[in-house]
This record gives sequence, structure tokens and C-alpha cells, in this order.
Amino acid sequence: MRDPVRWPVPVAARRSMLTLHVVSTAAWLGLDVALGVLVFVPMANPALTAACYQVLPLLFWPVLTAGLLALLSGVGIGVMTRWGLVRHWWVAAKLVMNLLLLVLIALLLHPALTDAGEFGRALATGTPTTVEVPRIFMPPVVSTTVLLVATVLSVWKPKGRVSRRR
Ligand code: HEM
Repeated sequence: MRDPVRWPVPVAARRSMLTLHVVSTAAWLGLDVALGVLVFVPMANPALTAACYQVLPLLFWPVLTAGLLALLSGVGIGVMTRWGLVRHWWVAAKLVMNLLLLVLIALLLHPALTDAGEFGRALATGTPTTVEVPRIFMPPVVSTTVLLVATVLSVWKPKGRVSRRR
């Protein structure tokens, strides 16, 4: 395969950006798996609900940071190389997936994790609460699936340009 560099970007800079990209996306996937474990373990063993739910809100900032770093480093590699941002379907699709997931993290995951933490604390201290048990099994399932699809697209880099003229 031809070297995908678009203009003479130092090889070290491109490789550093790709390293950041791979590390941040791997961290994001790992955090989603941790989120899934903390959500599904209480379903199997309700005695662990208080402990697991109190940990859940701590994952919000790491997940958001990993998602933002994945986006920034992905855009960085895109503009530094011939892959571009909207030149190839697999890159454009990842850009949309990444942005969509960040919106879902900010709008849906954040309040759900806050409620889960509050519910966990109330359960641990025996305090009555009006907070309902949040249904948070969808975020880790949806996000993990989307990230796995993005990883497969990244490795296989399916052919096909968005436009021939680009
Ligand atoms: C949605 C989350 C994302 C995941 C899980 C992900 C994952 C990956 C992985 C694992 C690679 C390394 C593939 C390899 O070297 O064979 C990669 C490469 C790449 N990613 Fe992403 N990525 C994501 C988001 C993005 C975004 C938002 C962009 C830019 C808009 C982007 C652009 C690229 C490009 C251009 C490469 C190719 C680098 C190269 O081979 O020179 N990625 N991605």
C-alpha cells in the first residue's frame, strides 16, 4: 500500500498521533467494558448493587476524555494523511460514530451515571430515595458495539471513496 501521507508531515509526528489514537480508542473500549461489568454484575448478584452503582459515576470523565482524545487524534491523523476526513467512507463513518457517541455520553450517560451513584449511596446507607433504579445496560452495549465496528473498519479500511473528485 502507498504511504498515506498527504504532505510532508514528519514520520514521528504521524506515528505519535496514531499511537495516541490507538491508545485512546483502546482505553475507551476498556472503560466501556468496565462500565458493562459494573452494570451487569448487580443483575446477577443484587448484593453488589450498592458497591457497583457507587463506582459508576467515577467513569464519566475518563470515558468522555478517552472519547474526545479518540476524536482529536483521529481528526489529526485524517488531516495529516491522504485518508482525509470525508474522503473515504470508513473514516467519515468513524467521524460520525465518534461524534454521535460523544453526544450520547454527554446527554444520556452523564445523568444516568449520576442517578446510579445516588441510588447506590442511598442503598448503602439505607436512606430512602426517590431516584429510580436507572436502566443503564444500553450505554455499554451500544457504545462497545459501535467501537468494535469502528475498530474493524479501521483495520480493514474498506475500499470506496466518498467522491472520485476528492
Ligand atoms: C469511533 C472511534 C474510533 C475507533 C475505535 C478507532 C480505531 C482506530 C484504530 C484501531 C486504528 C488503527 C488501525 C491500523 O493502524 O491498522 C485507527 C486508525 C485510523 N483512524 Fe480511527 N478510530 C476511531 C475514530 C476515528 C475518527 C473520528 C477518525 C477521523 C475522523 C479516525 C481516523 C483514523 C485514520 C485516518 C486511521 C488510519 C491511520 C493510518 O493507518 O495511517 N478514527 N482507528
